[in-house]
Amino acid sequence: MTDHHTTKKTALVTGANKGIGYEIAAGLARLGFRVGVGARDTTRRTDAVEKLRAEGLDVFGVPLDVTDDASVAAAAALLEREGGLDVLVNNAGITGAMPQLPTQVTPEQVLEVVDTNVIGVFRVTNAVLPLLRRSTSPRVVNVSSTVGSLALQTAQAEPVGPISAVYSPTKSYLNAVTVQYAKELAGTGILVNAGCPGYVATDLNDHQGIRTPEQGAAIFLELATLPDDGPSGTFRDDAGVQPW
Ligand SMILES: NC(=O)c1ccc[n+]([C@@H]2O[C@H](COP(=O)([O-])OP(=O)(O)OC[C@H]3O[C@@H](n4cnc5c(N)ncnc54)[C@H](OP(=O)(O)O)[C@@H]3O)[C@@H](O)[C@H]2O)c1
Repeated sequence: MTDHHTTKKTALVTGANKGIGYEIAAGLARLGFRVGVGARDTTRRTDAVEKLRAEGLDVFGVPLDVTDDASVAAAAALLEREGGLDVLVNNAGITGAMPQLPTQVTPEQVLEVVDTNVIGVFRVTNAVLPLLRRSTSPRVVNVSSTVGSLALQTAQAEPVGPISAVYSPTKSYLNAVTVQYAKELAGTGILVNAGCPGYVATDLNDHQGIRTPEQGAAIFLELATLPDDGPSGTFRDDAGVQPW
């Protein structure tokens, strides 16, 4: 182990090879973290790591498919060898095929997206929890969306989001899970929060979004670096706390 392992904090970002996750990884590295770039595809992961290193950033590749128990276990073991983990950003996510009318979706369609967007978060978080428990300022950050907010989707004036029986409910579920983790881990120092990046131009929405991935990443950098007396069990975006 070299010195920087003991002095620097380490973060893991899932799905960090592109989009918002890539910019969260870059942003955390610029803030002085050593960042594990979690990505399932070897070429995409290596390309991202090289690009970040070309910027002078301290990053390393972490092979990681959040739907695969063995892959998640191997990623946790790799982080242990790398010296531990202080910040986990659960960013990996998919929308599933569109459209997603509730009367027409198949169970398989629903299960695939739940497996990635929700169960993936349980898998990764629980696998690295022993490492987070050893950190002096552990943070778990869940990349959610205001399209998962039941309050905002049913707002009288301007309801948020399209009819989406698969993707949006996975973010409602993720928000609910965020609350449960925050409650169980209260008092441990592990702060667990969810955030929304806004509508960001990425492959996820065929670049229809209106914000840049760097703008989308900002809220997650904030949640990853909350002070020790910061909030846990909240859902927020750049405008502040958002309703569940
Ligand atoms: N874009 C928006 O407007 C918006 C708004 C609200 C929330 N979000 C959320 O932001 C997060 C990032 O999305 P994005 O917009 O940046 O989309 P993106 O560019 O499509 O990136 C998604 C990332 O997740 C990875 N991923 C998907 N399934 C995975 C798996 N099983 N294991 C590991 N990695 C996996 C992808 O890897 P591959 O390259 O291998 O597919 C990719 O790195 C998602 O959780 C999304 O729901 C996005």
